[in-house]
Amino acid sequence: MTKAKAPQVPRHIAIVMDGNGRWARARHRPRSFGHNAGRKAVRVAIESCMREGVQALTLFAFSSENWQRPQDEVGALMGLFVRALDKEVDELHTNGVRLRFIGDLNAFDEPLRRRMQASMTRTASNERLQVNIAVSYGGRWDIVQASRQAAEAVARGELRTDEIDEARLNQWMSLADLPPLDLFIRTGGECRISNFLLWQVAYAELYFTDTLWPDFDQACLRRAIEDYARRERRYGRTGEQIAATP
Ligand code: FPP
Repeated sequence: MTKAKAPQVPRHIAIVMDGNGRWARARHRPRSFGHNAGRKAVRVAIESCMREGVQALTLFAFSSENWQRPQDEVGALMGLFVRALDKEVDELHTNGVRLRFIGDLNAFDEPLRRRMQASMTRTASNERLQVNIAVSYGGRWDIVQASRQAAEAVARGELRTDEIDEARLNQWMSLADLPPLDLFIRTGGECRISNFLLWQVAYAELYFTDTLWPDFDQACLRRAIEDYARRERRYGRTGEQIAATP
């Protein structure tokens, strides 16, 4: 790994969009009201990333653990995803956004899966901003599915076990074809990764903010990017080595 100085604008940002429930509770409204406000914040984040020149944005919309939430909340979130896909895809497409869903898509019902697939196919040739929505996603799930693919390649005789190294396994991880994750943001005041992008986060800069997701606007993203631009990314080397790198 020879890359030293961070580019001023992160190429790839991931966000744990936390705080919808508390945002709604503060307004004496149901959690679904908060998720709906969160959906509007998603739109703002996408527009802000386009303005900032970010290449890829990955959003944690529904974790593999979120299935354990009360049934009515899960139902409300599914309804919201369907509505968002029906309403937003045209405009995203017009604006050059390429959409991808990552996670265990088989966990969703057929109509929703078809909508996700259709939106990916429709936007596949767009290049302005890659937006990845993680649904029924877990970082451990991702590592397991990549390992399984490696094992299958071995079983087919296409790969020897001693050929499996980090670079090889990385080929099967979600988002391997995108710029590396530069900045990992979590809103809502908790300072944890919560099983998001465990493999990809290895050298990302972490940024935690108390701002609840529905309140995370363009100025908030700007602040996170400015904070990122001040970081020194050393990738295990010393500050002196980094300073000497052209
Ligand atoms: C976490 O906040 C948020 C979620 C589990 C859902 C995220 C979903 C959206 C932002 C909706 C829109 C997404 C798309 C892609 C259309 P929380 O409910 O855990 O909040 P809390 O910690 O305050 O309870």
